[in-house]
Parts: sequence; C-alpha cells; structure tokens
Amino acid sequence: MKKPVFAANWKMNFGPQETRTYLKTFLDAFPKTDDRTVIIFPSAISLVVAGFALRDRPDILLGVQNIHWEEKGAFTGENSASMARDAGASVALVGHSERRHTFGEGDEITAKKCAAAFKAGLTVVLCVGEKLEERDRNTTQAVVLRQLKAGISRLNSAQIARIAIAYEPVWAIGTGRTATPELAQEMHAFIKSLLDLPVLYGGSVKPENAAELLAQPDVDGALVGGASLEIDYFVAICEAAVRSRS
Ligand code: PGA
Repeated sequence: MKKPVFAANWKMNFGPQETRTYLKTFLDAFPKTDDRTVIIFPSAISLVVAGFALRDRPDILLGVQNIHWEEKGAFTGENSASMARDAGASVALVGHSERRHTFGEGDEITAKKCAAAFKAGLTVVLCVGEKLEERDRNTTQAVVLRQLKAGISRLNSAQIARIAIAYEPVWAIGTGRTATPELAQEMHAFIKSLLDLPVLYGGSVKPENAAELLAQPDVDGALVGGASLEIDYFVAICEAAVRSRS
C-alpha cells in the first residue's frame, strides 16, 4: 500500500520567523497521521528552524529546495547536500522547472544533483515536465523521457527505487492553469510505464482541484507551490484525498 505524498514547495518565501509561525499553526491544524506523507520544502535559510519545529512529527519530512552537486568549496551562495542534511533535511527537490528554466540547469546538472543528494544520505523528488511549446509540438513524452533518463543516469537501482517523481507541466506552474485530471493521468501512466515509482502532480494545485487530481489512479500525490503558502489551503489539499492503494 502506497501512501499519498503532499509536498509544500515554499520557493523564496518564509524566513525563519515566518517558518516557525507557519509550522506551529500547521501542526495544530494537521494532527499526526500515518496514512500519508507530508514533505515541507522551506528555503535553505529556514531549514534548521523548520527541523526544530517538526522534531516531534516523524510523519512530516523536511526537504531542501536546491543543492549544489559538489560537497564543498568555492561556490559562493550555494549549499551542499551534506549541509542540507546537517540542517535536518532528508529529501532534496531536484530539476524543478524554475531551476531548469530560470537558472539554466540542464540534464547534466540535474543528474549530478541527484547523485550528490544520495551520496549525502538524502532521497530525491525529481521534477520533470514540458514547456507549452513542447506540448504544442507533440514532444511532451520525448521531453519527459529525456529528463527522467538524465535524472537517474548517475543512480544505482537501489537509489532509483527510493526517488519520487513530480510531473509538473511548466505551463501549469504558478499560472493558475492546471492540467486536466485526464491529462495528468495520461502523463503519470506514461511515467509509471517507464519507472515504477510514486508520481506526484504539480502545477497550480489548489483545494478546489486536488481531490479530482488525486482521484486519478496514477496520481500519487501533489507538489504544491503557491497554495502551500496559505496554511488553510495546504491543510485542505492534504485532506483532499486520502485513499488506500494496493
Ligand atoms: P504552483 O507551483 O503550485 O504555484 O503552480 C508548483 C511548483 O512549482 O512546484
């Protein structure tokens, strides 16, 4: 039985004080549960505070939004996977569309980051997804296949078995434009035909559409950006659909 996964990607929001306040309220509103996995991805600067706030909640994992692929060195402003682990993270988000398209990180960098995460003892949520022009050119599956292959290229099979995929069509991220449940299902089924791994959907997930998306047989959870900044919305999404699967 696989548990659904609900991940909050806070992006560049919430410093340590706001993180403490958010999590205090969130933990009160979201009692301990073992029927789903929640992952919080705060900014790196708020990881330690978040880890402390979550110390009595093993049902909630802490993740880092970005890591550098080297272990240490002269990389001003960057954080290594081992530093993130030391700060309390157990998961790394890799290949997010904003890293790929705003910061120009290609497949090779994504591959190196996945390997660096495992080397430091983190697991990975690997994000993949096509841009609108790629969908319009009918290259969606080819793009996602390429991103998946690259993402796992430096991992061994035991490591691959521990990752989760997030399918996030770039045109749906932060745009309010969500993939239809059918479209999400089609891509999730495609990804699962390649890799037998949990696949989360991301891209304008909100309380109003979460249940429909989660009702699809191959949608195993949600990666939530904007709506995760509102505690009530994120709680509602986490409550939206909890179903058991065999
Ligand atoms: P969004 O972001 O929910 O604001 O579309 C999702 C993501 O970027 O992971």
